[in-house]
Amino acid sequence: MALRTLATRKKLKEGLGLGLGLGLQSVRGLQTFSLPDLPYDYGALEPAIRGEIMQLHHQKHHQTYITNYNKALEQLEAAMAKGDAPTVVKLQSAITFNGGGHVNHSVFWKNLAPVHEGGGEPPKGSLGSAIDTNFGSLEALIQKMNAEGAAVQGSGWVVSNLAV
Ligand SMILES: [Fe+2]
Repeated sequence: MALRTLATRKKLKEGLGLGLGLGLQSVRGLQTFSLPDLPYDYGALEPAIRGEIMQLHHQKHHQTYITNYNKALEQLEAAMAKGDAPTVVKLQSAITFNGGGHVNHSVFWKNLAPVHEGGGEPPKGSLGSAIDTNFGSLEALIQKMNAEGAAVQGSGWVVSNLAV
């Protein structure tokens, strides 16, 4: 029981602490996820990102993380009920990977915005200044993020935590 509580509480805190609207649900005492809606239409970011790419990424890619996370939780519950410790341990990586994929995608969607809502332009003001101060330029930040992310499991999610 403690293991299940530990795994799900951590994900809950991560999601709830960021106010991400992660689509939390409770099934048989386990906290599962459902695919949250995007805060804009699939085509709202065109021409920068095509609507069909956004839809594919949201409905297929993001949904797959959620499906696999929820499936791993069900397998965890079954393994714990049987006292199958090796399977409980083995499932931790799937829970972390897929739960992390869900949280990362939820953050990602909220960091994009249509042009009419301020998206599509290089950061200005305090964020633009913080990027220049900490990384030298926006282009240097992009290069650093791409380099750091290339080696990370799950196609390279990198998060910069700047105080602005
Ligand atoms: Fe993705």
